[in-house]
Amino acid sequence: ESYDMGGHDTYMHKEIAEQAEAVDRVLRGRIDDRFATVRLGGLNLDAREARTMRRVKILGCGSAYHAGQIGAQLIEELARIPADAEPASEFRYRNAVVDPDTLYIAVSQSGETYDTLAAVQELKRKGARVLGVVNVVGSAIARETDGGVYVHAGPEVCVVSTKCFTNTAVAFALLALHLGRIRDLSVSDGKRIIEGLRKLPGQIAEILADEQRIAKLAADFADAKSMMFVGRVRGYPVAKEASLKLKEVSYIHAEAYPASELKHGPLALIEPATPTVAIIPDDDLLEKNRATLEEIKARSGRILAVAHSEQEKADDTIVVPRNEPELDPVLMGIPLQLLAYHTALALGRDIDKPRNLAKSVTVE
Ligand code: AGP
Repeated sequence: ESYDMGGHDTYMHKEIAEQAEAVDRVLRGRIDDRFATVRLGGLNLDAREARTMRRVKILGCGSAYHAGQIGAQLIEELARIPADAEPASEFRYRNAVVDPDTLYIAVSQSGETYDTLAAVQELKRKGARVLGVVNVVGSAIARETDGGVYVHAGPEVCVVSTKCFTNTAVAFALLALHLGRIRDLSVSDGKRIIEGLRKLPGQIAEILADEQRIAKLAADFADAKSMMFVGRVRGYPVAKEASLKLKEVSYIHAEAYPASELKHGPLALIEPATPTVAIIPDDDLLEKNRATLEEIKARSGRILAVAHSEQEKADDTIVVPRNEPELDPVLMGIPLQLLAYHTALALGRDIDKPRNLAKSVTVE
């Protein structure tokens, strides 16, 4: 894509709309049907290392950190390697133990975020193996890491990350599939994930086609003082990212919580003026999630569900297409980007340049 607005009023809208092509690009040339795996040319990690590593630690800031949380779940699920994500700044300041059997992965759209770069430099100084999942080719983080996966989202101009977040999650699915197939993921599971990956661009286009309805829903949220986003396991990083999107671009206060944590405190906030967005994939946690909707309804809270089928307890449901459960987070975040966008539009916000924010934070 060029920097041209291409008929859109904002870069945010343009970049949301580009996601089907962007996902197609991160997949292109990387799928290896013969072995039901993927080819990641720049990874620089041999099969022996992939088999012997004991942990994966993912570092990034903001949306990159949230995409890293999705990545950690994918790596645990598909490659059965314990994995977690942490904000890069927290990691570097807590004098973390650097473990030789851990693979570290730095995530960044710009490749220039100072906290992430400083974490990479500290890790390298201590002899760690660090890979990058980066969008901007040749950026500082891409250069400082030992190898990695380019996200190929194309230029992202809007301060608020959308297509790069989605592409980063897909890049992690590729990496998790690659590690899984070197470890113990079966050929049939490898094929199942590949089929799911191939469906993504078409399904993203389907979600984007529902924009007018999402715009109508957004109009109802524009006068909310605060919003709650909840999800369980795969839905939780989606809730965190959707909450960040809404805060950044609309300036409406929002909180994201694991749905199971609501009853440990945040339920006190639920009342008619605090709507909840609930991420409810049709997976093994569906019944638990439905029970959460009942808890919210009992407090007269308004609910918007993002789900695979209409949810009876919700006031409204955005239905997204079904894919393989591991890939649900890729699709479920997309309507919520549109929700944030249209809420900000209704409030007349400066969508591409929200107050107080910069596209990349290159200082401490
Ligand atoms: C996302 O919408 C943000 N504006 C912000 O959180 C961003 O993701 C973060 O600053 C990290 O940037 P990077 O991906 O360029 O490292």
